Amino acid sequence: MSILELKDLAVEFNTIEGLVHAVNGVSFSLDSRETLGIVGESGSGKSVSMMSLLRLIPEPPGRIRSGTALFESSKGQVDLLALSRAKRSAVRGRDIGFVFQDPMSSLNPLMTVGDQIAESMRVHLKLDDKAARRRTVELLDRVGIPAADERYGNYPHQFSGGMRQRVMIAIAIACGPKLLIADEPTTALDVTVQAQILDLVKSLRDELGLAVIWISHDLGVVAGLADRVIVMYGGMVAESAPVDALYETPRHPYTEGLLQALPRVDQDRGEELRSIEGTPPDLYSAPAACPFAPRCSYAFDRCRREVPPRFTVGDGHESACFFDLEQRRPRSE
Ligand SMILES: Nc1ncnc2c1ncn2[C@@H]1O[C@H](COP(=O)(O)OP(=O)(O)O)[C@@H](O)[C@H]1O
Ligand SMILES: [Mg+2]
Repeated sequence: MSILELKDLAVEFNTIEGLVHAVNGVSFSLDSRETLGIVGESGSGKSVSMMSLLRLIPEPPGRIRSGTALFESSKGQVDLLALSRAKRSAVRGRDIGFVFQDPMSSLNPLMTVGDQIAESMRVHLKLDDKAARRRTVELLDRVGIPAADERYGNYPHQFSGGMRQRVMIAIAIACGPKLLIADEPTTALDVTVQAQILDLVKSLRDELGLAVIWISHDLGVVAGLADRVIVMYGGMVAESAPVDALYETPRHPYTEGLLQALPRVDQDRGEELRSIEGTPPDLYSAPAACPFAPRCSYAFDRCRREVPPRFTVGDGHESACFFDLEQRRPRSE
C-alpha cells in the first residue's frame, strides 16, 4: 500500500539573478515499509524536493509552483503541500520524522538534548513530564547513547557529531512516525561512524516498520539500503527503478555515467559520485529540453528540443530519455 504519492512537484526560487527552477515536475510513490533512495549530484534538487514536502523551504524566496503529495497520516489522507500551518507541524512532528546532514543546525543549542526529545512527545503524544522523560531515556538508549540517563541533561555541544545525529534520529522516531526522511545524514561523519549510523537506521526501520526516503550522493550507501532508487538530474527524475535493475541495467545515460564512474558499486562502499564531464544544467530557464543533453554522448536533435517524458522500460523501471539504451538507438514510440 502506498503511503506517499508525490505528483508533479515544481519548486522555484526568486533570486536577484533570476528565477531558479530548482525542481521541475518530480513524481514518485512510496509504499509503507519501503526504502526509496534518491541520488544525484549536488544541486540536482534532492534537498529542495524533500524540504518542500515538509514545507520547510523559505517561502519566499521559494515557491511551490505545482504538486500534490498525498500522505496517509495517522488522521487519514492529507495533501502535505496543501495543509494549514498547524496541521503541517502536527504531521511533521508525529507522522514524519526527518534527519538532515547537519544536526547542529536542527538542534537547539540552548536546550538539553533530553528536553528536545521529550518536548515533541509532550506536544504530539500528550505525555506528561515523567512519562516523556522515561521514554526519552529509553530512546537515547535505543539509538546508542551510553549512560542515557546521565546524558539527558547534556547540551548538543557536549556531543560528538555522530552522537548528535543519534539524537536527531531519536527525535525523528519519538512519536512513532510511519515515514523517515533522511537527507545525507552521514555525509559529514567519518566512515566508521557513517556505517554505525547506517546500521542503526536499518535496524530501526525493520523494528518499527518505517518507510524511508534516503537521500545520498553515495551510490554505494544507497545500493545497500534501498528497495527502489530515483536518480535526479536538473530538478527532474531521470530514472526510477528497483535497486537491482538500476545497478545492473541502467536505462538513462546519466545513471550509466554515474555507474561507470564507480566501477564496483557493490564492493566500493563510501565512494562518492564522481562528476561526469561538462557543466551542470542551467536552472535559470524553465526546462524546454532534456537537461542532460549537453553532457550526453547519445543526445540527438529531439533531446535538445523536447523534454523527455518518462518511458516505461521494465518492471517498475522508468527512464526519461529519448534514447533506447538497451537497443542502442533512438526510441521509436
Ligand atoms: N534558498 C534558495 N535560494 C535560491 N536557490 C536555492 C535555494 N535553495 C536551493 N536553491 C537552489 O536549488 C537547486 C537545488 O538545490 P538542492 O535541492 O539543495 O540540491 P541537492 O540537495 O540535490 O544538492 C540548486 O541550484 C540550489 O542553488
Ligand atoms: Mg542536498
